Amino acid sequence: MSEGNGNSESSASDGVPGTDTGASPRPEPVEVPEALVTPAAAEAPEVSERPPVFALRGLWKVFGPQADAVPHDPALAALDPAELRARTGCTAAVRDVSFDVRKGEVFVVMGLSGSGKSTLVRCLTRLIEPTSGALTMDGEDVLAMDRTRLRELRRHRAAMVFQHFGLLPHRSVLDNVAYGLEIQGMARAERRAKAAEVVGKVGLEGLEDRRPGQLSGGQQQRVGLARALAVDPQVLLFDEPFSALDPLIRRDMQEEVIRLHREERRTMVFITHDLTEALRLGDRIALMRDGRVVQLGTPEEIVGRPADAYVRDFVRDVPREQVITVGAAMRAAGPGDGDAGPELAPTATVSEAIEAVARSGEAAARVVDGRGGLLGVVDRERLLGVVAGTARMPETARMSETGTALR
Ligand SMILES: Nc1ncnc2c1ncn2[C@@H]1O[C@H](COP(=O)(O)OP(=O)(O)OP(=O)(O)O)[C@@H](O)[C@H]1O
Ligand SMILES: [Mg+2]
Repeated sequence: MSEGNGNSESSASDGVPGTDTGASPRPEPVEVPEALVTPAAAEAPEVSERPPVFALRGLWKVFGPQADAVPHDPALAALDPAELRARTGCTAAVRDVSFDVRKGEVFVVMGLSGSGKSTLVRCLTRLIEPTSGALTMDGEDVLAMDRTRLRELRRHRAAMVFQHFGLLPHRSVLDNVAYGLEIQGMARAERRAKAAEVVGKVGLEGLEDRRPGQLSGGQQQRVGLARALAVDPQVLLFDEPFSALDPLIRRDMQEEVIRLHREERRTMVFITHDLTEALRLGDRIALMRDGRVVQLGTPEEIVGRPADAYVRDFVRDVPREQVITVGAAMRAAGPGDGDAGPELAPTATVSEAIEAVARSGEAAARVVDGRGGLLGVVDRERLLGVVAGTARMPETARMSETGTALR
């Protein structure tokens, strides 16, 4: 079965090695990031109001001899992975997945090794052919696209950045960056000029004439990123692009992605098995287990309201006070609250509130809107409840969106 490595069509985003091995079977230990929630999320329009770029409904990918039968047979579809394999020899890598990737967001797909992340992201451009379900891009039926239209999609509209860079070893940095434009048929002078511009954007100036083998891992991945950016795609798809990099370089590259996203507002689908990376980059995170999306929400929702024991275990070591905002942790103000205490915006983290309350010597902080209107109060009990993990976060409309709810 060769499907996992994409088909043989050539384009900027296929025909490049993209298989991922060696991912750790457990979530990596969580370092303490200084700002887990991306600042970009605060100024952006409400994510739920933006139009979808990709829309998936009931999408399945089953590998194996009876693949087509599995999604349509409720008895088979309900089997757990081991039973399904024993009974049919099939693996359901993506099971009944439904969500929208909205314009301008960083949509993170997170999950342990083998949970179906790579399969899912490859289904978006049909590098892997979905077994059943519906998939649209900008409202257009991707599953109905003919080869020409599909090639168009892969060359112009969605570009992929792979874990192992997928660079051409005998070409210079500049020609690697220009590769996608070459595939598009752009003339040499024009594509090299465009590539030079993108090389500058990702901090590779001066290295244009080197070969990939003469670069560090981080630099090679910058080339991979530049190659994807050069075609100016509507969506960037990242499949664990930084997991081969050491932690400091990885951090640099994450900041690069955050910067690019802030500057360009390009839609991104970012696959990772690293929770810290997911929390740092994601506007929303879809958490996968055995091919299913078990929870979809903002970092704050995933950490503050894990949908089940699996998610709770996944986020167990996250410092909740750095992710959860006072807007989610506050209670309504009561008559006994008075008007003392520091004032905080609803987007302030619980960690910031703890510091503000401790410095003020007051019993609570006041959560106020932009015009100074009182929204609620976070008292010491609430703040401690978040740290201890005993506080129940309120259910909001945005919080309840799961794959199941969308169908
Ligand atoms: N071509 C294939 N044929 C059969 N099974 C496959 C194929 N490709 C993937 N699988 C299986 O599908 C499941 C999901 O694989 P996938 O590569 O999508 O996982 P992943 O979440 O990306 O894992 P990792 O973090 O290790 O990259 C796994 O059980 C895998 O063995
Ligand atoms: Mg993978």
